[in-house]
Amino acid sequence: MKKTAIIATLVLSTAVVFISCDSKRQPGKVYMPDMAYSRAYESYALRDSNIFTTNPADAGHKIFYNSLPPAGTVRRGDMLPFNVPNDSAGLAMTAQMQNPLPPATGRDLEEAGRLFNINCAICHGAKGESNGPLAEKVGGVKNIITASPKFSDGHLFFVMTYGQNNMGSYASQLSREQRWRIVQYIRTLEPKTEAAPAATAAAAPKADSAAVKK
Ligand code: HEC
Repeated sequence: MKKTAIIATLVLSTAVVFISCDSKRQPGKVYMPDMAYSRAYESYALRDSNIFTTNPADAGHKIFYNSLPPAGTVRRGDMLPFNVPNDSAGLAMTAQMQNPLPPATGRDLEEAGRLFNINCAICHGAKGESNGPLAEKVGGVKNIITASPKFSDGHLFFVMTYGQNNMGSYASQLSREQRWRIVQYIRTLEPKTEAAPAATAAAAPKADSAAVKK
């Protein structure tokens, strides 16, 4: 009895193997079509409104698809979202905010400078002094280098993220990392006020030692 069962299983499985290799040009039987052929969602394609819906309330009898990433998800490799509200309280919160990126290396700064020149210099000028070619047309462009008090890292990021009056938001053009890199680049445009006293301090002892020699 056991022997017959083993032989029957062997014969059956060999038959299955041979039947499934019948023809290379013919696909085999698909018994889970959803796994074999996934639904293709084309991001920008026109969708048949009889089949697709962007209204979550219709999701039961139509396919819900609104081209947006699911709420609360973060793109792989992306930085965490900037959860500061776009209002005066949010802006006040940015005062203490530090740049989360490690200090920029030469390459990062070069890239940030390139992005600044593409996105910001048209209004703010290559040195951030509000003398870009579009500044007059737009009106009200601010000098972001000599601002007093100096903008905090968070403030610069906030303005790039949400825009302000005549300046639009750059959140869709620049990734979070790119915006923080531009903050680092803007810092390099600032006059080195802290370095100046250090230089005079370094010069002073020299004068002293010269005096001693005399
Ligand atoms: C279309 C012209 C335009 C472009 C491009 C532009 N800005 Fe501005 N920016 C403005 C104007 C106008 C203001 C003044 C807004 C206001 O009235 O407070 C401003 C203000 C600012 C301020 C000062 C915000 C404050 O609180 O006073 C910063 C910082 C700034 N921009 C940074 C940037 C950076 C960084 C970029 C590039 C990502 C950029 N801007 C691109 C027009 C522009």
